[in-house]
Amino acid sequence: MKLAVSGKGGVGKTTLTSLLAYTFANQNYNVLAIDADPSPCLGDALGFPRELIQGLTPIAEMHELIHERTGAQPGTYGSIFKMNPRVDDIPDRFSATHRGIKLLELGAVKMGGSGCICAESVLLKQLVTTILLQRNEVVLMDMYAGVEHLGRATSDMVDALLIVAEPTARSLGTAAQIKQLATDIKIPRFYLVGSKVASQADRDFIAANSPGLPVLGFISADPAVLSADREHKPVYDLAPKLAEETRAIVEELKKG
Ligand SMILES: Nc1ncnc2c1ncn2[C@@H]1O[C@H](COP(=O)(O)OP(=O)(O)O)[C@@H](O)[C@H]1O
Ligand SMILES: [Mg+2]
Repeated sequence: MKLAVSGKGGVGKTTLTSLLAYTFANQNYNVLAIDADPSPCLGDALGFPRELIQGLTPIAEMHELIHERTGAQPGTYGSIFKMNPRVDDIPDRFSATHRGIKLLELGAVKMGGSGCICAESVLLKQLVTTILLQRNEVVLMDMYAGVEHLGRATSDMVDALLIVAEPTARSLGTAAQIKQLATDIKIPRFYLVGSKVASQADRDFIAANSPGLPVLGFISADPAVLSADREHKPVYDLAPKLAEETRAIVEELKKG
């Protein structure tokens, strides 16, 4: 299963991605978790040991690698480079693994003017496409509000896009925008996941204001998320209620 998680900043995408990663890993799936946020923090949410996280370099910052694979210096525009650089070895070589979860950080691609193509964006696109096509494992992509990492070429390969929203009008407004983008690039299935819900009124608000998206499930507001952050532990370990809610979400996903 290949899933992408999107939504407004701060709604709980990274928290949900970390919960999904442990849920699948505990069901004996191999999990590849991709941090596509320009400022990576999925490793912390997963409670990866600090030395493992420090040993990771986001792919977009691996200048030597980008040069070697594309034939162009990163950040240079208008130069000639290979459009199909080799990337199949990257997920295993440049990821960190902990408790059955492999973590890969993509890093930030500086986008120039409209339609800019630069060496690092060619490499990252090729990497994401190759992962979605070739990797025989559960792939979870923690994105930010945009879906441009997906693009048209990769969109058929994502099984579902989960759009996360809090019980706020603003985050549901962003969900509606993302839904529009996702429709344009023809992602097959997309769902809304309610996050930080504290009451039935919160659930009702999200369901009533969903931009026409089926609600896959809800993640409760839980002070254990804060404790997990402070103690550098996985939310999955400290918040059994959220782990249970995530299992229900995975069951819904499996039903298709
Ligand atoms: N279910 C939850 N209950 C309480 N706090 C949460 C919950 N989910 C996320 N948070 C808090 O909200 C903030 C943003 O969460 P995060 O998962 O990083 O969001 P995003 O990845 O969408 O930016 C963090 O401070 C996190 O501790
Ligand atoms: Mg995040």
